[in-house]
Amino acid sequence: MSILIKNIKGLVQVRDTSVSTVRGADMKQLPVIDNAYLLIEDGKISSYGAMTEAPDRAGEVIDASGRYVLPCWCDSHTHIIYAGSREGEFVDKINGLSYEEIAKRGGGIVNSAKRLQITDEDTLFESAWARLSEMEAFGTGAVEIKSGYGLSYDGEIKMLRVIRRLKEKSKLTLKATFLGAHAYPTEFKQDHEGYIDLLINKMLPHIAGEGLADYIDVFCDRGFFSADETSRILDAGAKHGLRPKIHANELDYSGGIETGVKYNALSVDHLEYTGDEQIAALMASGTMPTLLPSTAFFLGLHEPPARRMIDAGLPVALASDYNPGSSPSGNMQFILSLACIKLKMMPEEAFNAATINSAYAMGVEQQLGSITAGKKANIFITKPMPSLTYMPYSFANNMVEQVIIS
Ligand code: NIG
Ligand code: FE
Repeated sequence: MSILIKNIKGLVQVRDTSVSTVRGADMKQLPVIDNAYLLIEDGKISSYGAMTEAPDRAGEVIDASGRYVLPCWCDSHTHIIYAGSREGEFVDKINGLSYEEIAKRGGGIVNSAKRLQITDEDTLFESAWARLSEMEAFGTGAVEIKSGYGLSYDGEIKMLRVIRRLKEKSKLTLKATFLGAHAYPTEFKQDHEGYIDLLINKMLPHIAGEGLADYIDVFCDRGFFSADETSRILDAGAKHGLRPKIHANELDYSGGIETGVKYNALSVDHLEYTGDEQIAALMASGTMPTLLPSTAFFLGLHEPPARRMIDAGLPVALASDYNPGSSPSGNMQFILSLACIKLKMMPEEAFNAATINSAYAMGVEQQLGSITAGKKANIFITKPMPSLTYMPYSFANNMVEQVIIS
C-alpha cells in the first residue's frame, strides 16, 4: 500500500539523518524542500525530494499543490481522560479567584476526581476517544496521556486501563503516564504520609506489574507536592523502571526543575518560574523543558521565559496540557500561535518545539517528529497557504486539511 503526495509547496521538517532534539540557535532552522514529493509505503516514510525526482508509481496519488506537508504534532503532555467539565470554575476565575484558591475550596483537580470516581470505564473511554479524534483533526499524531484524576487505587487503575484501551484501538502513537501524585485527595489532605504510602506501596507495584504506565509524573509545586515528597515518589518510580516527566515550577520556584533533572526526567513541564539557576541545571541535562502556553493563557499566569531558555542554548518543547481545569483544548495549532504571540518564539522555533522536541519529550523521537526515511508516516497536509508562517499567524483556525496516520 503506497501513497505518493506530489506538487507539495513545502515539505517541512526534513531531516535526512534523524536528530533527537534541536536546541538553542538551531531552533530557528527549519529545513524545508520546496516543490517536493513524499512517498509513503507500508505506513512509513519511504522517500522524498524535489518534484523533478518524483517516482512514477501506481497506488494512491495526492496532489498537494499550494499546500505544505508536515510531520504531525507530538503532544507530549495531556490529561484527556476526564469526566464532566469545569466551566463553573471558569466563571470563578473571571470573578477573580486564582487556580490555587479554587483548589483550596475543593475545586480543581479534586473536583475532577470526584466526578471520575462515579464515571464508568466505558464512558471515560468514549469521551477520551472523541478528544483524540478532535486533536487528530488539528494535526496531532502522537499523544502522551496522564492519569491523575483517580487519586485512589481504583481510580488511577481505571484511568490507566482506559489509556491502555486507547492504545489498542487508536492508530495514533500513545504513551501513558502515572500521575497519582497530582493532588492530595480530600481524605489525605492532613495525612500526606498516608497517601504517599498508598501511592508507593500499593498503586505503583500494581501499575508497574501490569505494565500500565510508560512514565511517572508528580505535580511538584506550591500547595501540591514538595520537592522532598517528589523525590521519594520518583525514587520509588525508578525502582519500578519508570522514568519521570514532571509538572514543575508552574506556581512558584518549587525545586521541581532541579528535582526533575536530578532524577533524569525525560521532561519537566510548565516552568513559568524559571531563573538562571534552573536554566543552568537544564543545560547540563537530557531533560526537555516543555512549555504549555495555553495554561498560562487560560489561568492568566505570567509567561515562562522561552526566549531566555532558547537564547541560553536550551531546547524547548511545546504541548497542549489538554485538561478540564487549565487548558480545555488540544488544538496544537493554537499552541504554536500562543508560543509565537505570548512567548515570542519564532515560527520556526515553534514548529521544531511541537514536532521533534516534543517527540523527544515523550520518547518517540526515533519514530516520529520529522520527515526522515523509515519514520512512521504520521503527517498532515495543510490547506492552501501563502507561507508557513501563515499557520501560527492564523490563530485558532484549523489550517490542516488532511491527516495521514501511518
Ligand atoms: O497541568 N498543573 C497541574 N495539573 C494540570 C491541571 C489539572 C486540573 O486543573 O485539572 C495542569 O495544568
Ligand atoms: Fe498538566
